[in-house]
Amino acid sequence: MAKIIIEGGNKLSGSISVSGAKNAALPIMAGVILSSEPVELANVPALNDVNTMDKVLQALGVKVENVGNSVYRFNASGQLGDEAPYELVKSMRASFFVMGPLLARLKKARIPLPGGCAIGVRPVNIHLKGFEALGATVSIEGGCAVAVADKLRGNKIVLDFPSVGATENLMMAATLAEGRTQIENSAQEPEIIDLANFLNTIGAKINGAGSQTITIEGVDKLGGGRYSVMPDRVEAGTFAVMGAMNKGNVRVENCDPSHLHALINKLCEMGVEVSYDENSISVHAPSRLNAVEIKTLPFPGFATDLQAQLMAAMCIANGTSSITETIFENRFMHVSELARMGASITIHDRTAVIHGVEMLKGAPVSATDLRAGAAMVLAGLVAEGRTEISQVFHIDRGYENLVGRVRNLGANIERVDEPDPATEE
Ligand code: UD1
Repeated sequence: MAKIIIEGGNKLSGSISVSGAKNAALPIMAGVILSSEPVELANVPALNDVNTMDKVLQALGVKVENVGNSVYRFNASGQLGDEAPYELVKSMRASFFVMGPLLARLKKARIPLPGGCAIGVRPVNIHLKGFEALGATVSIEGGCAVAVADKLRGNKIVLDFPSVGATENLMMAATLAEGRTQIENSAQEPEIIDLANFLNTIGAKINGAGSQTITIEGVDKLGGGRYSVMPDRVEAGTFAVMGAMNKGNVRVENCDPSHLHALINKLCEMGVEVSYDENSISVHAPSRLNAVEIKTLPFPGFATDLQAQLMAAMCIANGTSSITETIFENRFMHVSELARMGASITIHDRTAVIHGVEMLKGAPVSATDLRAGAAMVLAGLVAEGRTEISQVFHIDRGYENLVGRVRNLGANIERVDEPDPATEE
């Protein structure tokens, strides 16, 4: 099993560049199914989750070519299958994004239910209810969600919750539906805007992405084109928190600070000097961070995907901080791992209360999920002594060459690679 080994305490300084966004690349890759003409995507990050989506698309009959330099070419002009393989969907729930595009293009789709994962149950009921509103008949058969339709018809859909995945899946399905679809209570995450921009680039007619109401005028077919994926705001946020914890001078480049206002506000409240321009953020931290309180919320609120990383910073802040997690019901697995490093945290229902300590101490810990893994790296970088992180395959799902990039800032960090078992999200 691969491990990341860190000798903590090195001061970090310099620039670190952000990759393309995983959470934008995955739905956009699924979206290529909607067109029978060639599509080229740039700024696609080199991640295990992207490799999984590549395999899902190929299994469905899409030709996929990784031409290097973060560029992929896709061609979905051939015969497409309507059934995604269980093994792939099980290993990455974002595979479920192919359901909307397949339903739109083939009028049928059979996708294994993705099941829960380490952070929660994560049902897909909102996606399925939306497909029904568009005129599909949906059933559950043999562990799969099955949807069939003679024709998809535009409709008004009010989401029970602004689910990111459901908004994306329904937006894709509605792209080729007859007439107008209005999705109300849509998620407003920047990745939704990126998906809409991609779809519009290849001929869709989507308005309002990034607001609570998205309107899609169905078109007969989509064309080809080239699109560049947005920068990863979670990666950028992770690096900004890393710099803030480390008391060095870290500049995060190739990002969009307008996606990170909630985090930047909290870092300022913690006493961090944050400056930013159109595509970079610089952080310089004081001798000790202040304690703060956060609540995770749908965008533009504080992102659940940055909660674990900020908790690592709170562990060494002056005073008592708290985090209330409102998006996922089980997203505190990193608490017991941080406790192994000397953190003082108690959990009361969905709120973690973090009593800051002077110093964390290196220990063997696990990356219990993707962002929890990032939090362990951040904690290890400031801890006294050696931290050994196992289950690194979780980190590989969302961070491209994390070790190499952090080492360039001056960290004493290395990866020891041994073959991993099959991964499960
Ligand atoms: C996406 C992101 C993930 C992020 C999350 C919330 C991708 C690939 N993943 O996940 O990194 O943490 O948004 O910002 O983009 N829910 C239902 N029924 C549904 C759908 C969702 O109850 O049909 C619930 C979920 O269980 C969860 C909440 O809604 O508690 C939010 O989920 P959602 O916004 O759908 O997240 P994902 O799209 O899965």
